[in-house]
Amino acid sequence: MKIVTAEFVTSAVNPGGYPPEDLPEVAFVGRSNVGKSSLINKLVNRRGLAKTSSTPGRTQLINFFKVNNRFLLVDLPGYGFAKVPETVRAKWGQMIEGYLKNRESLKGVFQLVDCRHTPTVQDRQMYEWLLHYQVPTVVVATKVDKLSNNQWAKQQAVIKKTLSLAPEHLLIAFSAETGRGRDELLQVISHWVLT
Ligand code: GTP
Ligand code: MG
Repeated sequence: MKIVTAEFVTSAVNPGGYPPEDLPEVAFVGRSNVGKSSLINKLVNRRGLAKTSSTPGRTQLINFFKVNNRFLLVDLPGYGFAKVPETVRAKWGQMIEGYLKNRESLKGVFQLVDCRHTPTVQDRQMYEWLLHYQVPTVVVATKVDKLSNNQWAKQQAVIKKTLSLAPEHLLIAFSAETGRGRDELLQVISHWVLT
């Protein structure tokens, strides 16, 4: 798939603010700072489209982007960021879960985990939740430029084991720095939104 256009559509906190469900969409979930916004930018080759930051918790709203006028990409706020008050964290959880549960036009979810770390309890809960609700899911290990091939081979096993990755589920290695994994992601997106 060739990316021709990519544009910001809107930000929302609740369903009232979501755009209409007339296009299929794909969402990105994962811990704060895991690289969701950077991945989206690399995918569509537009540097500043989704705001990125080295400070966790940058994306606090659900951001919708329209690609090729054919589908939407959805940047969800990161979970697991310790430095926010419990009340705010609970609200984030509700916002993410409310979106994932009720969005009819959602065709699939990429769950991002940092390739260098063992997935957290929250990563596991999120993955189990997606399985439970039978949301088509692909796990993406981000920042893979930070590991050697050897290290990645080892970490891949750790991630699969910790998440109890379902045999039918893919684990894609991705780097927003080098573009590794971009073609694979685009193939999955095509499959989800163009069939
Ligand atoms: P929140 O919006 O806070 O949930 O974070 P996010 O998941 O959107 O992460 P973001 O894309 O803002 O990236 C966080 C930090 O990781 C930034 O400093 C990025 O430059 C860095 N980063 C993201 N992807 C990669 C990657 O593939 N390789 C390297 N080396 N750094 C990356
Ligand atoms: Mg972000």
